[in-house]
Amino acid sequence: MHIRVLHGPNLNLLGKREPQIYGSTSLAEIDARLQALATELGCSLDFLQSNHEGVLVDAIQDLGSTDGVLINPGAFGHTSIALRDAFLGTGVPFVEVHVSNVHARESFRRRSRLADLAVGCIAGFGPASYELGLRGLVSHLGKG
Ligand code: DQA
Repeated sequence: MHIRVLHGPNLNLLGKREPQIYGSTSLAEIDARLQALATELGCSLDFLQSNHEGVLVDAIQDLGSTDGVLINPGAFGHTSIALRDAFLGTGVPFVEVHVSNVHARESFRRRSRLADLAVGCIAGFGPASYELGLRGLVSHLGKG
């Protein structure tokens, strides 16, 4: 089983960016934790972070033999019809994750353009949101 991990805009700043909201863990540390978990779960991962919507759209279109996508879309999750259409177009199963609890913040963060298409959504557990999301996605794909 192969899973693509996508990180959207500004997530390259994790660890430095608004630590009171996002904590002190860097994106490299999150990816390392996911890699360790993937080994435990018996799946492989590839990783991409981009601040550019079109790059993320390309990564959702050009999936090769990828079975599922774990995505933190960042702010694009709240706005991007293009990411939504890419997921609709490919039909790839995906899980949406957020480090912060988007439902406990500004009202514009409560809307997701992706959530109703997702296998599931996880928000608010800090870096562990990613690990919980990977466990959920692998469990879902394993049942297929
Ligand atoms: C985020 C939440 C988004 O609202 C925000 O724009 C981000 C990070 C999170 O992981 O908590 O960039 O996706």
